[in-house]
Formats: sequence, structure tokens, C-alpha cells
Amino acid sequence: MLLCCLGVLLLMQGPTLQFSLADNSLVATPDNEASAIPYFETVLDPNDKLHLYWTVDYDEQTVTFELRARVPDHDWIGIGFSDRGEITNADLCILWTDKKRKNRFQDAYTDETGFVSVDDHDDCHLLSMKRRGFISRFAWSRKFDTCDKQDYYIEDGTTHVVYAVGRGPIRRLDGINLSKERHGFQRVQLLKNVIPNPPFPEDTKTLTIHNNKVAVPNVETTYWCTLHRLPPNFEDKNHVIQYSSAIQEGSEGLVHHMEVFHCEVDAHKKLPFWNGPCTSPEKPKILEACKRVLAAWAMGALPFTYPEEAGLPIGGPSFSRYVMLEVHYNNPELKAGVIDSSGITLTYTPSLREHDAGVMELGLEYTNKMAIPPRQPDFALTGYCVAECTRVGFPAEGIVIFGSQLHTHLTGIKVYTKHIRGSEELPELNRDNHYSTHFQEIRRLKRKVRVYPGDSLLTTCHYCTSDRENITLGGFAISDEMCVNYVHYYPKMDLEVCKSSIDTKVLKSYFRYMKQYNDEETSGSKEVDENYKSIHWSQANADFLHHLYSNAPLSMQCNQSSGDRFPGFWYGTPKTEILYPLPLPKRRCPNIMCSSKNDNDEDADDNDVE
Ligand SMILES: *[C@@H]1O[C@H](CO)[C@@H](O)[C@H](O)[C@H]1NC(C)=O
Ligand SMILES: *[C@@H]1O[C@H](CO)[C@@H](O)[C@H](O)[C@H]1NC(C)=O
Ligand SMILES: *[C@@H]1O[C@H](CO)[C@@H](O)[C@H](O)[C@H]1NC(C)=O
Repeated sequence: MLLCCLGVLLLMQGPTLQFSLADNSLVATPDNEASAIPYFETVLDPNDKLHLYWTVDYDEQTVTFELRARVPDHDWIGIGFSDRGEITNADLCILWTDKKRKNRFQDAYTDETGFVSVDDHDDCHLLSMKRRGFISRFAWSRKFDTCDKQDYYIEDGTTHVVYAVGRGPIRRLDGINLSKERHGFQRVQLLKNVIPNPPFPEDTKTLTIHNNKVAVPNVETTYWCTLHRLPPNFEDKNHVIQYSSAIQEGSEGLVHHMEVFHCEVDAHKKLPFWNGPCTSPEKPKILEACKRVLAAWAMGALPFTYPEEAGLPIGGPSFSRYVMLEVHYNNPELKAGVIDSSGITLTYTPSLREHDAGVMELGLEYTNKMAIPPRQPDFALTGYCVAECTRVGFPAEGIVIFGSQLHTHLTGIKVYTKHIRGSEELPELNRDNHYSTHFQEIRRLKRKVRVYPGDSLLTTCHYCTSDRENITLGGFAISDEMCVNYVHYYPKMDLEVCKSSIDTKVLKSYFRYMKQYNDEETSGSKEVDENYKSIHWSQANADFLHHLYSNAPLSMQCNQSSGDRFPGFWYGTPKTEILYPLPLPKRRCPNIMCSSKNDNDEDADDNDVE
């Protein structure tokens, strides 16, 4: 049980913490593995007035939350979820005080304008509550899937936790318009991995690569880059076995994400120093070589820990010791005068583990051959890592994938990678139905996946270009798009890029066709981007392009780490066919099953009623 007389039992890396709602204090109790339930936490608002703690029970398919709020004690506090962080079409549990000073806790939802209605069915189960002065603490539980159409379905991947607060006491909830009240959201991976971390060897060391008193600009978005040189003990090879954030106290709401990139230059090359905005025109061009991700952290992310049998190789005689730290500051309140020294801590060991871990890129080539027409609420592109490539690139015993970082630019809304063997679909490698470019964590997979030579991996990205008037092309600029899954695996192999795009000849004939039969201004002498920009993007043309991408053969990038392709013929490659798709996951919802089924259905007793 999660609850005891005082509140929710919580654990933080070692000692068990007990939340005492009686006196608003955190009490450390002796380490007790048996009762140790891992818990997670995140700030919700930039001032940390709302701080969320939670635990996940995978057996019961339930999340238990506890919120610590610093608001006047008759104010109402709504907290819940929405598809992408908007306060409209949101599902909330709201704590409020009525005119008789009685505290209430209700399940509610907002319509497409933010207008609140109380839910027909109450799925916000209050466990404990304490309000005094400016401190409110309350704990509640929520099923992943409540089977209620008015509720949000908590899934793997990114969850947008939304909040709203307002003055109380109030007479009733119905009719409050949350669009007009103070509100916001935070992205978290709610359904975190709860596998315990392996022990570290005794010679484990840590290195924190951090900013040095950066004056954070008072603008909403800043990407700050600093060049660092690893210390001399990286002249020998080490294994990074964990990395984690090192956020300066007080910067918790401000540091949005951070990445450490390795500079892919000759080990002896000296690089010019840099400490400034990443996009500054004064940043030396050579520093663009600092692009290979070593570590990445995003708000709410826990330390990323390698499995016991593998580590990320870093250092050695041919390894440049230069790395670039990139910190994304998110400052919507335009605070001035903040000085920050946050960074990332690498935990490493010279005692090398059994396997070197590697990173492989799946998805679409970085090319303008793939494009997304404007005004599309949901346009999908798929990048293929075909069997022909895994057959030449993978070791005979296959590889073990244990981590994944999904990547698109601004318009990506959903990303997943399917795993196919023969023509049968196996369980998916990773999926994020609420993907956001602003929350690109490297996530440990909940189950390691072995992928054999001859398997295929299909990465699909969905994009929303509703607010764009021109076509979006594939490419490197933030306004261009990408579709990538950086998978972390072992043992490290030579295959580094397994990505596709539409076959070049087919694309050329498409542009020819659009001129001949559709009167578009496309031409054989124009570049690909000009051709795409020449087409008038009606819905029919957008649908036709989607149809073309879904049927055309591929051009494959099946590349080694040297940047050369593996030997083979990589044009006109047929698409991977899925003859036996994975059955849809079964929801444990009696009503939903009944309404979609005939009353006489013989499978009716299959329903998993709780
Ligand atoms: C709620 O507030 C928004 C923003 O002010 C407004 O556009 C919308 O019409 C309001 N909804 C209702 C039902 O009044
Ligand atoms: C869209 O394309 C037109 C024509 O190239 C250009 O003038 C316009 O600025 C573009 N709009 C945006 C938002 O980029
Ligand atoms: C893959 O290899 C081809 C041929 O050598 C090269 O043109 C391309 O740039 C490489 N792509 C990547 C991402 O390394």
C-alpha cells in the first residue's frame, strides 16, 4: 500500500522519505528496501509554487500524485492533463474551497475554450489533504485508463501536466473559464522506468560540465553554448555509465534542456573557445563539428543509467577531448539578472564494462526530398531501416537496444518505431503519442529489445503544420523537419545510420507528372526544394503526396561510422511490408468493449472487468 496514516510513502535514491501531512515536513526514515517505492518529482511553474511528486504502480495501472502548493489556502488548484499542454480540452482534478470553507476535490474537464464542467464520473481519488496558511498538500490517485471519455488516457512517453489556480472560496466549479485564469503546464514522462540501477564500480568518478555564471538573457528562449575540454585522464578510454543534470539551485524552472556534444575533430586539433549563444554569427564555424550527442537531459528527466553490461566509450588516444555544452533556457516571464551555472554530470569509470555502447540513427535521411505540405493537422512520414541493411550491418547475434531518443523539429507531434521480423510485426521499440521537440529525453526502454540481422525498424513521425502557409522541407534548420530515433544499444558496431528517403527517380517523375497533368510550375531543371515550393498545396495535392510516399520505393542510407555506405545497391529499395500487424493493445474497459461489440458476442467474457 502506498498510504500510511500520515501520507504517501516516498523514496529518493536511498533513504525512504515520508511525507508528513500533519506537520508539513519531510522525514527521512531508515532505508528499507521492502517498502521502498521509487518516487519522482517535478516543478510545474517557473516559481516552483506548485511542486508535483508521483509514484507509478504498474500492477494496479495507477499513478499516485502528491502536490505541494504555495498558494493562499482558499484558492482553488486544478491539476491534470491535456494532449499538448493547452488548458482547453483538459482533464483535471480540482481542489477548491466552498463558501462554507469546506474543501472539495472534484474530477472536471474543460471544453475547447477552457470552460470547466464537472465530470459525470469521479476518477480523482483523494487520499489525503492538508491546507494551512499558504501551504496546501494533497495526494490523489488516478488510473492510467479510467475508460471515461471525459478523461485523459495516461500513456507511455510524454505527458503534458497542466495546472490552473484562482482565487477562492467559490460557490461551484462549473462555469469557471480556465483560459482566463493563471495556468500553465509541464512536460514529464509520467510512466517512468522503475527498474533499479546497477551498482557502480569503486573507481567511479564524476565530472560536471557546467556553465560558468552565465547571465541568462531576459528573452523567452536562449540556447547557450560553451566549449569545454575534458581533463587529461580522458587520454585513456573510460566508460560513461550514467549522466544526470546538475541544476543550480534556483534555476529549476529555467533550465529547459541540456546536451553535451562531442566535437568530431582530430584528437590533436585545437579548437577556439566559445561561451555565448549557440546561434550567434560570431560562433566559430569549426564548432559545428561539435554535434555528436554524448548526453542529453530535459526538464523532469531522471539520471540516464547504462545497463550493467555496457558503457558509453569516451576518451582514448584518437578521441578529441573537446565537448560542447548546450543549455536551453526557457524564460517566459522574462526574468532579468539571473546568473546560472547549471550543467550535466557524467559518471564514468576506467574499469571498462563488457560492451561498448553505441548510438545508431533510424528514421528519415536529413534531406529535402521529404516534405510536409502546409495546413496539415496530422501528416505522417516514415523512415525505413530495411532488412537488407541490418543484414550487412548487424553482428550475427544481433544488438540489444536499451535506450531511445526521438527527435523532430518544431512540427513533430507523435513518433514511434515499429520492429518487423519477416513480415510479422513485433512489439514496438518506442512510442510517444504526445511527443514534443521541447522534451527530448534519452529514455531507458522498459524492456531491452534484441534486433537481429534481417529485422527491419520503421520510424514514423506525425507532423502538424496547421499554422504554416508554405511547405516544410526536410533539413537541418529548426524550421525544417527531421524524423529520427537515436537508439542506444550494444555491442557497438560499424553501422551508424540506417535511414531512408523516397527514391530520387520516383520523386523526379512525380515532379514531371505534376507539371504535365496538374499544371504546376515544376520542372526537370529545378532543384528539389524549388519544385516542392512550386506546387500549389491544395488538400488533394497533399493527399496525393502522402499516397506517393506511402507507395514509392526507397533510397537507403546504410552508412558506416566512417560516413561511407556499406557495399550494396541502395536505390529503388522496396518498402518493408507488414503482413501480420501487431494486435491493438487491449483496454480494460467494460463499457468501451460492449459499445463496440454485438451483445451476443461470444468473446464478451473476455472482458477484463476489475
Ligand atoms: C473562455 O475564455 C476565452 C479566452 O478569454 C474565450 O475566448 C472563450 O470564449 C471563453 N469561453 C466561454 C464559454 O465563455
Ligand atoms: C511563403 O512563401 C512565399 C513565397 O516564397 C514567401 O513570400 C513567404 O514569405 C513565405 N511565408 C513564410 C511564412 O515563410
Ligand atoms: C552516407 O553515405 C553516403 C555515401 O558515402 C554519403 O553521401 C552520405 O552523406 C552519408 N550520410 C551520412 C548521414 O553519413
